[in-house]
Amino acid sequence: VERVFSGVQPTGNLHLGNYLGAIVNFVKLQQTHNCIYCVVDMHAITQGVDVWGGPAELARNTREVTAAFIASGIDPKKHIVFNQSQVSGHAELAWIFNCVARMGWLNRMTQFKDKAGKDREAASVGLYDYPVLMAADILVYRATHVPVGEDQKQHLELSRDIAQKFNNDFGDSIRGHGFNDGVFFPLPEPVITGPATRVMSLRDGTKKMSKSDASDNSRINLTDDADTIAAKIRKAKTDPEPLPSEEKGLEPRPEADNLVGIYAALSGRSKADVLGEFGGGQFSSFKNALVELCVEKLAPIASEMKRLVADPGHVDSILIDGAERAEAIAQETMNAAKDIVGFIRKK
Ligand code: AMP
Ligand code: TRP
Repeated sequence: VERVFSGVQPTGNLHLGNYLGAIVNFVKLQQTHNCIYCVVDMHAITQGVDVWGGPAELARNTREVTAAFIASGIDPKKHIVFNQSQVSGHAELAWIFNCVARMGWLNRMTQFKDKAGKDREAASVGLYDYPVLMAADILVYRATHVPVGEDQKQHLELSRDIAQKFNNDFGDSIRGHGFNDGVFFPLPEPVITGPATRVMSLRDGTKKMSKSDASDNSRINLTDDADTIAAKIRKAKTDPEPLPSEEKGLEPRPEADNLVGIYAALSGRSKADVLGEFGGGQFSSFKNALVELCVEKLAPIASEMKRLVADPGHVDSILIDGAERAEAIAQETMNAAKDIVGFIRKK
């Protein structure tokens, strides 16, 4: 059976890239799949406390991501929404996977190199191990499909490598426990779709839109109000040329390409279609249309998020209910995984 899993870190400043690259696809997949959406609080603490903000901020951000999921249209009753640290199977499976994954594989991870920066000796072991925990997140539910933005592609390839090596290393034991095809963990498939799988900074079309960019004008936050959204789009970097009429005209123009991609994603159209309407025109009029569209799509989400986070007890009860249902699935996988590895347990 197909099952969807994805995660978002509660590290603050949820932005349009998170929304278009990930959350929009989370919402869509609810129609065709059983979905599990996780606020990955254990991943959030892999960088210094200056990055994740400390205990009060972590809890606040965890509720904010939960609110963003629900305000965007995720149904926590039909599907599962919870925070990672409530289900111990993630950490337990990560340990088994630590003994399957190879140092050489992790050494190739570009996100670790970016986040660790120059002083790699000072990075936490957790930051290095981050992709292994991510593989455990997905596979503790034996999920088959993982909607993410483009930047997570390499991590998903690692998840597939870990699943495959586990299946090979423990093949006989897996078959001995009734999985006759020798496959205990499926190889999870990335779902990276839409015209905005990599949304760029509004200040620099060669840099990814990011939660941690020092300039708030570089991103549209999901909590921004209409005036803020309008001001940020009006200030967004562009070039002096009018918009091209065809998609290939966007190629050497990263800022134009980014804004057209955002428009396309928000309106559910293709970039070619958007250029059919706006090509040849000035940026200023395109920006006016983009402001209108962004406000129309995002302002209702911002106000619903505000309403939800005003009642933290209610948000917490959603996470607790989701965690109970997630735990039941994870428990089943962990029982089988422990038997396969040879760990003795209470039956
Ligand atoms: P994170 O905030 O790193 O936990 O990311 C949550 C989800 O948003 C992941 O699926 C990312 O791939 C996606 N994402 C983050 N930044 C961007 C971006 N600039 N464009 C598209 N997707 C993004
Ligand atoms: N690493 C992902 C990110 O930064 C978040 C994440 C953690 C995730 N575990 C996951 C995404 C499992 C998909 C599946 O965006």
